[in-house]
Amino acid sequence: MLSQQTIDIVKSTAPVLEQHGKTITTVFYKNMFAAHPELLNIFNHANQSRGRQQTALANTVYAAAANIDNLGAIIPAVIQIAHKHRSLGIQKEHYPIVGYHLLGAIKEVLGDAATPEIIAAWGEAYEVIADAFIGVEKDMYDATEEAEGGWRTFKDFVIVDKATESDVITSFYLKPADGKQLPTYKPGQYITVRFRTPGDEYTLNRQYSLSQAPGKDTFRISVKREDECVPNGKASVHLHRNMNIGDTIEVSAPAGDFYLDTESTTPVTLISGGVGITPMMAMLETIAKETPERQVAFLHSARTRKHQAFDEVLRDTTDSLPNAKYEVLYSEEGDGFINREFLAKHVAEGSDIYVCGPTPFMQAVISALHANGVSEDNIHFEFFGPKEQLELINA
Ligand SMILES: Cc1cc2nc3c(=O)[nH]c(=O)nc-3n(C[C@H](O)[C@H](O)[C@H](O)COP(=O)(O)OP(=O)(O)OC[C@H]3O[C@@H](n4cnc5c(N)ncnc54)[C@H](O)[C@@H]3O)c2cc1C
Ligand code: HEM
Repeated sequence: MLSQQTIDIVKSTAPVLEQHGKTITTVFYKNMFAAHPELLNIFNHANQSRGRQQTALANTVYAAAANIDNLGAIIPAVIQIAHKHRSLGIQKEHYPIVGYHLLGAIKEVLGDAATPEIIAAWGEAYEVIADAFIGVEKDMYDATEEAEGGWRTFKDFVIVDKATESDVITSFYLKPADGKQLPTYKPGQYITVRFRTPGDEYTLNRQYSLSQAPGKDTFRISVKREDECVPNGKASVHLHRNMNIGDTIEVSAPAGDFYLDTESTTPVTLISGGVGITPMMAMLETIAKETPERQVAFLHSARTRKHQAFDEVLRDTTDSLPNAKYEVLYSEEGDGFINREFLAKHVAEGSDIYVCGPTPFMQAVISALHANGVSEDNIHFEFFGPKEQLELINA
């Protein structure tokens, strides 16, 4: 239990730390990686370079600090992060390392303003926050390992098929190398894949949504080749160019809190931009198998026909269902983007809505949904990177 004095210090200094949040976490990561280069095998270096991970960690620590006497308020955020941690194999032994370097960074950035009382209070608060994560993650590891076909962290899978889905998206079908059955998962969840590219010192870890319904003898991931950016995407380009049938890759058990509520009978709207289509494929296939009468709208935005994956299977699936529709807009072929009018026309009253795509896409779509009067409670979304704060715009 934290003393009232500690709680008061943490709550009153949280806004000051928040002001310096990104500087503190940038210093923290620099110092931590210098002391523990082995952790570079776990972290995504591109997210580090773009500052996304620093922002995510800083926002969470300050949100937790502001709620230090009522940590229950941040449990949904803890669960989403714990899924990511569990999928990456983060261990309880890692937490003191993070704590030590976080406190060190606070001292380094705030200088004399960080009095010994303030540092001691933050040290105690960090332990309470870390314990909350460690507890949730332990339960997740145990449940994952005990599930039928489950395992604790990573295990080897073999690529048994590779299929071109569009000019930029390729699917990989993965089977456990030990021949065991696969665990089930919730449609919308992701796995982490881990591998080393030739000449690289550290392993790469990347999350990919499972793009087919559970119940098969393979996991399928569908990866967009990120080679229009500088530098090119490391993992996706390597997967496309160099990973082939017969190759082995390490895989974590399915994770994530973005998934279709299969118990609900409300209409469903699945809205995706670009490769954000992948979790929606698992959701639509599940609806087709389990609740084919359910009302569903599959709304997709792609740059061009050549960029789009799964068009044919989507037409076939939605044609075969009595209450399904499929609408696609090609933004570079004159169709424009998904906007308020389009959503007003295609989102059924009372729908549960799932959104996935690039951040600006989600910003525009979610803002338009709000403008159309859709309740926040009905909107679920997934970032293909560390969770960010969505800045809603006037739609
Ligand atoms: C839950 C989840 C599910 C996902 N599902 C899918 C999916 O189904 N399909 C899919 O294709 N992807 C998915 N992703 C994204 C995927 O995990 C990878 O992020 C994506 O494949 C890019 O990885 P990469 O290694 O190719 O690119 P990276 O090397 O990670 O680069 C990513 C970007 O960062 C930029 N960058 C890299 N280094 C620097 C630097 N030093 N300075 C500035 N910028 C830099 C690159 O130019 C590029 O634009 C998902 C992500 C999450 C979190
Ligand atoms: C209380 C302490 C911690 C907090 C508040 C925290 C917070 C976060 C947050 C907010 C994210 C982003 C989640 C998302 O994808 O949306 C994240 C991801 C991550 N965390 Fe933690 N974390 C903590 C401890 C740790 C520890 C101890 C480790 C291991 C050394 C760790 C390793 C990672 C990694 C590797 C990622 C993914 C990074 C990426 O994809 O770039 N975290 N964490």
